[in-house]
Amino acid sequence: TTEETVNCKEKIKQLPKDIYYLLKTAGEVGDYLDKKVFVVGGFVRDLLLGKENLDIDLVIEGDGLLFANELHSRLGGNLIEHKEFGTACIELENGNTLDVVTSRREYYEYPAALPVVERSSIWNDLFRRDFTINCMAIQVNKDSFGRLIDYFGGLEDMRHKKIRVLYNLSFIEDPTRILRALRFASRLGFRIEDETNNFIEEAIKDGMIGKVSVDRIREEILLLLDDRYLDKNILSLLNHYNIFQALHPQLIVTDIKINKVKDIQKSIEVFSTFYKEKVNKKLIVIMELLDDLPIDEIFQVINKFVPHKSSILNIQATLEEKEHTYKILDTEDLDRYTLYNTLHKHSMEGLIFYYNNCTNGYIRHYITYYMVNLRNIKASISGKDLVDLNIKPGPTYKIIFDAILKAKVLGEIYDRRDEINYAYRLYEEIKGGRDGV
Ligand code: CTP
Repeated sequence: TTEETVNCKEKIKQLPKDIYYLLKTAGEVGDYLDKKVFVVGGFVRDLLLGKENLDIDLVIEGDGLLFANELHSRLGGNLIEHKEFGTACIELENGNTLDVVTSRREYYEYPAALPVVERSSIWNDLFRRDFTINCMAIQVNKDSFGRLIDYFGGLEDMRHKKIRVLYNLSFIEDPTRILRALRFASRLGFRIEDETNNFIEEAIKDGMIGKVSVDRIREEILLLLDDRYLDKNILSLLNHYNIFQALHPQLIVTDIKINKVKDIQKSIEVFSTFYKEKVNKKLIVIMELLDDLPIDEIFQVINKFVPHKSSILNIQATLEEKEHTYKILDTEDLDRYTLYNTLHKHSMEGLIFYYNNCTNGYIRHYITYYMVNLRNIKASISGKDLVDLNIKPGPTYKIIFDAILKAKVLGEIYDRRDEINYAYRLYEEIKGGRDGV
């Protein structure tokens, strides 16, 4: 292992002023306590790649909690201490977060007669990490401000666009790194280096994906499906490594599926002028991915993709009703009210999925017609208008509003005036019916 003597001082100076100030202050606190302080991991990687990263991880060779308290007293914000782990987090008012960990010295005993080797604590901290590009540190103490620590060839791998693990058991020790490798490869446009690729394939063959907790798998999958990176080659990579099959044997991402996922953005845009709510694209992606699973098995895997009950229900309802919905819509002469009733109960994500998932002309036509002409139909009168008509509040109100909606959907009435007349007539009829009994 060699240490490159690269200095990142200039790069750090070009960062936003508040970040530069944070790092400088961290270094001053280190000097005050007479300890070495480093910024490490993702922040260093992104600094060298010229990408913004607001999460600062600091490693201190010494008492991390003492350091965090002193830094907090100079920077303000909110200090959260995890005493049992010797770590702390400072949440600053401007939204930046600073994580502080303590690195420890460890001794490595080599076999046979070789002496016990003592490694510096920062070496130890970096050696525990996942990929060479994530294993670099920059010292921030005043005298060494900006000194790059690169024991494992991270900079070289970055230049050659390679994702490389530090040692063969890395994926066995922490199988989420398998998903992280694909995520970084896809996000950065890097290649997974050959030997690392073999380690991944072996770990998958050994069933390591199944050993990861559902929570961690889900976190990683949601990051993998992040909108910003989805169009790149991530699905092909997931396919190549049979990741989804490891989650469920029937979850196979075919090329057809990959193309459908690629079409989602277009489908969202087709309707974008006709609704105001924010569409959760990830849910539509997940709907496409889970679509081929037998209905009764969807529930088994769905919680590996989304954590919230409402999202789970949304995906489930959409997939469960797909065949039924398509059957109703696959006809030449569907009346507006049946169309309205069929689609009105579905979420925006569900509607876009229905549109995206099929190529049938009728179905697409009806979904578009519904989005453009029917979805936003509402009664323009309110309960107060009915009170003004001397209609006594009660169950009649719901009957009247439902009837108004139906008449509007069918195009029998149009504006507020129509609605008031219609409500009044209906009420008279209902009353007449009752009086007649
Ligand atoms: N890390 C690791 N193994 C993991 C997760 C994280 O070795 N399973 C290390 C990596 O060195 C990583 C650092 O912990 O750089 C911080 O992890 P995290 O915040 O998850 O990732 P970042 O690299 O900061 O990436 P991102 O931009 O996605 O936040």
